Amino acid sequence: MSAKKHIRAVLGFAAVGALALGLTACSGGDDKGSSDGGASGELVEVGFVAVGPEGGWRQANEQNIKDTFTEDAGYKLSYAPAANLDQKSQIDSFTAFVDQGVDVILLSATEATGWEDSLKLAQEAEIPVILLDRGIEPEDDSLYVTRIAPDNIEVAKEVGEWAASAFPDGGNYVVLEGPAGVGVVNERNEGFEAGLGDSALNKVDAQTANWSTEEGKSVLETMLKANGNDIQFVFAQNDEMGLGAAQAAEEAGLVVGQDIKIATIDGTKNAIQALADGKLSYVHEYNPLFGETALDVVKKALDGEDVDSYIIVPSEAFDSADAAKAVLADRKY
Ligand code: AHR
Repeated sequence: MSAKKHIRAVLGFAAVGALALGLTACSGGDDKGSSDGGASGELVEVGFVAVGPEGGWRQANEQNIKDTFTEDAGYKLSYAPAANLDQKSQIDSFTAFVDQGVDVILLSATEATGWEDSLKLAQEAEIPVILLDRGIEPEDDSLYVTRIAPDNIEVAKEVGEWAASAFPDGGNYVVLEGPAGVGVVNERNEGFEAGLGDSALNKVDAQTANWSTEEGKSVLETMLKANGNDIQFVFAQNDEMGLGAAQAAEEAGLVVGQDIKIATIDGTKNAIQALADGKLSYVHEYNPLFGETALDVVKKALDGEDVDSYIIVPSEAFDSADAAKAVLADRKY
């Protein structure tokens, strides 16, 4: 019997006992059973509804989860990546995990909306859901245990603050966004604009480049042509798009750091190397390595302990070639 079924059995017994005594059934605590990480020989069954191949950040994040939830640690992780980033395939995997009766579901959502029915299904089955990275709407923490991610709005706000300081006299800028409908895209726009404050920087365009280097390059090429190269700053919402923008700037005869500046989010090794080489101007980490935090949350959730509704993963910013060179050798992703 999986750990969750064990917990449900214990809860059922406790509820009957409590009702007989006229007490409120406990909602957690010792008799909810424990995720003893397999010490009892039973593996905790974890369903991971994942995004799948998307870029360097995603690869690092999902591999870290797989490396953490191992059988040696007491877990049986079932990895279910989306088919071509398609939400329906994620919802189908989510439903299958509920039907299978896993003990807990980890969800990195390809879309911010459309999850209410799935979450209610898990709630009825008493299966805790933990959001990894991506938030979902509505933010109803009665439907999921928590969201584990860097503070996406704060990360983008720091990019905006850096941009405002880098352009005291203003200039024209463009934004390369992630795909429409993805929760982190709106958060990054909100944070960036908050960080800009009353900066004289002027947004002349914003388009999605779908997290991709190739599209980042082609979209910025088009923007530069449409604006006669009169763009001084690019906010790329992830590293891959920023690296593509750097290629487009170079091919347009613009020198990054002199004619144009490019800021990105993620902090993958390629971007840190590009910052060290002067091909990017600023990189803010959006730390993907939170597997141990996720494991701690799973244990607490299964043991009925309280968990904060948003668990922030620390992330740092790199604003110069020297800052990049100082960390490049030890970069884990
Ligand atoms: O949700 C996190 C974003 O998804 C990363 O910034 C991006 O690289 C990934 O594709």
